[in-house]
Amino acid sequence: MIFDTHAHYDDDAFDEDRERLLSDMTNHGIETIVNIGASLQSCQQTMALLNSYDFIYGAIGVHPSDTDELTEEGMAWLQEQLSHPKVLAVGEIGLDYHYDDTDKDVQKKWFRAQIEMARDAKLPMVIHSRDAMADTMEIMKECKAEEVGGVIHCFSYGAQTAKTYVDMGFYIGVGGVLTFQNGKKLKQVVAELPLEAIVLETDAPYLSPEPNRGKRNSSLNLPYVVAEIAKIKDISEQEVIEITNQNARKLYRM
Ligand code: NI
Repeated sequence: MIFDTHAHYDDDAFDEDRERLLSDMTNHGIETIVNIGASLQSCQQTMALLNSYDFIYGAIGVHPSDTDELTEEGMAWLQEQLSHPKVLAVGEIGLDYHYDDTDKDVQKKWFRAQIEMARDAKLPMVIHSRDAMADTMEIMKECKAEEVGGVIHCFSYGAQTAKTYVDMGFYIGVGGVLTFQNGKKLKQVVAELPLEAIVLETDAPYLSPEPNRGKRNSSLNLPYVVAEIAKIKDISEQEVIEITNQNARKLYRM
């Protein structure tokens, strides 16, 4: 069955039908979902979700674009959540230079602090990196991120960078972008990497794959991503589902 390594079911986009949608997931072949925190509030909501649904787990951390709100108190609260047995990772954390509404030095400070937190807790990390390839790699090396590993979510760089991350003990998160007309770079990454390095993710409610691009995304759309990986690698969809599920379990140490 399918393992969705990255979703945001706390998002307002699911307020109207969250319970109906989630309670039906396993009937549609979705076995496990990791809900990913992005702000302190979404981390609180993530804790509520993982306490309400057997098949939902969580990652706790603050997204680079939300680091303005972080304080030492906030960090202490995050750290406390990490001892919950269903919190599997620290994330999503990283750098995002696409929008310039959050100061780069603020982003870097809390990226470093959250890598430290992951290393102290011996938990893998979920990395968000957009238009910030060099700085992300530099900080991850400086802070010895490879000691705990994790996943580079919504991977948007080239195959060479992907291979470097795989060598550092990171998985590569692949989602809806793979099905886009302009997804050539990611197709190349998937073609060049072994399937053992790839995990499935939605980033729901964002990044819905074709043919549902632009609509609200959910884990129910992952079969479109599976089909695209199977096509690129010339293997069966079942193999893609099974191997990426095993990869996700290794990533999150389940
Ligand atoms: Ni995300």
